[in-house]
Amino acid sequence: MLTQAATAATLCRMRPWPTKTLALGGDYNPEQWPRSVWDEDVELMRRAGIAFATVGVFSWSWLEPAEGDYEFEWLDTVLDLLHASGIAVDLATATATPPPWLSSAYPEILPVDHDGHTLWPGSRQTWCPTSERYRERALALTAQLAQRYHEHPALALWHVSNEYACHNVPCYCDRCGRHFRTWLQRRYGALDALNDAWGTAFWSQRYTAWDQVLAPRRSTTLANPTHVLDYRRFSSDALLDFYLAERAVLSEHSPDVPVTTNFMTLSHFRHLDYHAWAPVQDVVSTDHYIVGTLAHPRAELAYSGDLTRGLAGGGPWMLMEHSTSAVNWQPTNHAKWPGQTIRDALSHVARGADTIGWFQWRQSRAGSEKFHSAVVPHAGPDSARFREVEQLGRIAARLGELVGSRVESRVALLHDYQSVWAASGPSMPSGELDPLLAAGTIHRLLHDRGVTCDVVHPSADLTAYDLVVVPQLYLVTDEHAAAVAAAAEDGAQVLVTFFSGISDEHDHVRLGGYPGAFRELLGVRVEEFFPLGPAQEVALGAGTGTWWSEHVELAGAAVVESYAAGPLAGRPAITRREVGAGAAWYLSTLADDERLGRVLDDVLAAAGVAPAVPGLPRGVEATRRRSDEGSWLFLLNHTESPQTVAAAGYDLVADAFVGGTVRLDPGGAAVLREG
Ligand code: GLA
Ligand code: ZN
Repeated sequence: MLTQAATAATLCRMRPWPTKTLALGGDYNPEQWPRSVWDEDVELMRRAGIAFATVGVFSWSWLEPAEGDYEFEWLDTVLDLLHASGIAVDLATATATPPPWLSSAYPEILPVDHDGHTLWPGSRQTWCPTSERYRERALALTAQLAQRYHEHPALALWHVSNEYACHNVPCYCDRCGRHFRTWLQRRYGALDALNDAWGTAFWSQRYTAWDQVLAPRRSTTLANPTHVLDYRRFSSDALLDFYLAERAVLSEHSPDVPVTTNFMTLSHFRHLDYHAWAPVQDVVSTDHYIVGTLAHPRAELAYSGDLTRGLAGGGPWMLMEHSTSAVNWQPTNHAKWPGQTIRDALSHVARGADTIGWFQWRQSRAGSEKFHSAVVPHAGPDSARFREVEQLGRIAARLGELVGSRVESRVALLHDYQSVWAASGPSMPSGELDPLLAAGTIHRLLHDRGVTCDVVHPSADLTAYDLVVVPQLYLVTDEHAAAVAAAAEDGAQVLVTFFSGISDEHDHVRLGGYPGAFRELLGVRVEEFFPLGPAQEVALGAGTGTWWSEHVELAGAAVVESYAAGPLAGRPAITRREVGAGAAWYLSTLADDERLGRVLDDVLAAAGVAPAVPGLPRGVEATRRRSDEGSWLFLLNHTESPQTVAAAGYDLVADAFVGGTVRLDPGGAAVLREG
């Protein structure tokens, strides 16, 4: 991966990518509109301070209306128009969704669901990841685009496909089954090794020939968990292979233009192992939409940003898409409040985004997303929503000075998609326990305290962190577990939660007592899980535990909190053990926010980690970005009342100096240049 700094330099030298401002932009789908609208589009883009447009994401049927019959003139016009207005282009390879002629001519490209049913054309992303035919046609189109537009002065970035796996993974077709076998042969070599890894000695599942191994379609009852886990690994790898093939075509015909594909680091999207994908992006980009049904949507946004920054190696990243207001795919699609378009955009910048994109530029009048908000709504530019974007454009121009700076964090929170996959497998102690529950809760409570986490993979370098959080890291390798223990030895506070360290990379349980891989580090030995249902609670000495509890025996740790009722009454619930220069804490239940918050306060104090600003009011988010040039404090008021924070500096949002008290309007934001 190019470093982020190198990417910025590359963009700056080679292409007209805006590096002096925080770049605003978004998906531009002009094929929906007559030519006359395009002139108004670029005029309005200029007014709103739009710096980039993502073009062509779903344009295949307009670029290749019949096999091998390409029509690029309309796209030439669009790129010329954008360039004439100084707008950089993030050009999509247009391979996210096949045109109807392609699936009619080659129905074998269609994906197949868990029950073996074909998913028919009529929507989008209707293609199977292993279809050779689909790949051949997609690469042909990619090559055409790369050859034609490589020299175009508007071209700043290649946007490969779109949100891989959003709708078409896993595919359970016979061809995917064959590719899966090849993938397994590479992974295990011999069939005996596969039999061992999958534990097929049980339930008469022993394979005696490779062609007996199938994609894990719906069976009579519980599937083999390692079979399912390997299929998820394979499905992510199969699409990564597809991405790399497109990327190779771009490198051949358009070698010096950076390449990205937009991730979905929202917490509910879990189909791809982005830790394997990030190293082959020239710049990490992601999409984020607020999910109104979540209990804590703002905290989820922050988690997504911190995860994306982790994927970007701590450097800046692109927010490729979010929405100016409502989406159209939730049960009730709530509009954003006045000011929220600005605050949401700044929330991502506060977590390291240097580019802010929306889906989409102009709200569709027809088709599947006609009620999805856009920069130019159905009401037209004479609207509060468009004016808010214009206002953000003026703020973004001032924020240019912080582009390239990094978000400060002394806390690592470990996130591993493969562990999440394994913990979501069939036949778990609790099928109702979300594998990201502890991660989300601890991250939210730290976020409420103005403490920023880097959400990173267990293989990340942990040496620079004062606190390492290990939340429900169910599957862990010996190597990663050793790195966590080493962090404690070296002086970090390590906080491990229930259902961590349980299994190895084949999802085999580590014997001798839970939490196997971390037992020694924590100085506890868990004999049995006592999972709690969603409506159940267990009393603690102070407060309550939810979702989970367990029979903990001490093996070197001291008790911080005990169970006070039920089958575990009197036994340890939360423990702490001194380790080398640091300490290892264990949470065997999810304590309520107040009790868990007090544990976190103790852990933060022991780690010497302070919030971005002291005395942060509840509901105000605070992060800090820093570079050699200075530091910038972000303050975002997510409450409906005015708030004050003790801080000083030049507020780039208000464009005014602030003495010692920042006054934030309800839903308001400030970005202070400090010092
Ligand atoms: C995804 C897609 C976009 C659009 C948005 C709507 O992010 O990439 O094309 O459908 O969802 O929220
Ligand atoms: Zn398939």
